[in-house]
Amino acid sequence: MKKIKKNNKKKKIIFIGVIVLLILVAVITILIFGGKKTDLVLIKDLDVEINSDITLLSFVDEVKNGTIVSKDKEIDTSKLGNQNLVIEVKNGNKTKEYKFTINVVDTTKPEIDARSEITTTVGDEVDLLEGVTVSDNSKEEIKVEIKGEYDYDKEGEYELEYYAKDSSGNEISKKFKLIVVSDPDNMTFTTSKGFKGEVIDGVTYIDGVLIANKTYSLPSDYGNGLTSATQSAFDKMNADAKSLGLSLWIASGYRSYWTQNTLYNNYVASDGKEEADTYSARPGYSEHQTGLAFDLNSVEDSFANTDEGKWVKDNCYRYGLIIRYPKGKESITGYIYEPWHLRYVGVDLATKLYNDGDWITLEEYFGIDSKYGD
Ligand code: DAL
Ligand code: ZN
Repeated sequence: MKKIKKNNKKKKIIFIGVIVLLILVAVITILIFGGKKTDLVLIKDLDVEINSDITLLSFVDEVKNGTIVSKDKEIDTSKLGNQNLVIEVKNGNKTKEYKFTINVVDTTKPEIDARSEITTTVGDEVDLLEGVTVSDNSKEEIKVEIKGEYDYDKEGEYELEYYAKDSSGNEISKKFKLIVVSDPDNMTFTTSKGFKGEVIDGVTYIDGVLIANKTYSLPSDYGNGLTSATQSAFDKMNADAKSLGLSLWIASGYRSYWTQNTLYNNYVASDGKEEADTYSARPGYSEHQTGLAFDLNSVEDSFANTDEGKWVKDNCYRYGLIIRYPKGKESITGYIYEPWHLRYVGVDLATKLYNDGDWITLEEYFGIDSKYGD
């Protein structure tokens, strides 16, 4: 009997001891961790593209109970492969290190910038890689290959491809057409949107519309002033503008090949060729030489914000005139936004291109390029 009592007492003491110990551990845990466990939740995708701009803390999705003490910093993504990173989180007076691994990958295709149509005379070989550029996020040198069969001695339209591949195996190909003709100054072709192109004495018409851009040039002796249709479109627009209290004038209308030559060369001398090419046409490539284009008022960006500029943008189509180089279409037209440069195309086409204020370019509408060959 005595022994059983003694055993019970012993058990009781052990039981109380365990309880006290548990309470002690709980109290210590609460004191150290503030009662709640820290957790750093990372974003799911830890793959990042090579040479992308990314910072350490952009990998964090959520921090539960604590604050990040690591400073945000740029991550070097210039090399492919794994990279170990650490983020420190503080909770109460404890700081915890979270280690994780990101993977720098390259899944982006290179980009090829090239003409989609090249014309040459029978027997006249051209460098098909001239002016072709390839860019890639890996920043490596990438070679461009030409795929397909062609024969400079045989008239025909050859469907070819530019092809490029980066060291991670990402491939790109871009179709282009090599047109071999007996006389490039007098020929016909079909655009990528199915319109008929016609070159007559070196002047290109697409669906009957004269085209002058970085791809389609004019003979040096072409043009002799604004065409009567262009002048009368301006006169009508000007009369209506005047009745609204707006004042329009032609700052620059027809420009001969040689005037353009002087202008362009002056721009190249002051800004360099690459920049000049973004806002001034090379001689033989300017719409001003067609007699179908003119610049209004002040030839500067601020024209867009004047009452005249705003009214012209939304009304010129009613006179058969278009904003030839719209905003946001720089890579398509090959030129920066020129709110002052109008081109006569006739009311029907101008209305289509106006597109309720979201201007479509001639290049988009007809499916043609505006790119120099070099
Ligand atoms: N500023 C236009 C592009 C021209 O020079 O014709
Ligand atoms: Zn102009």
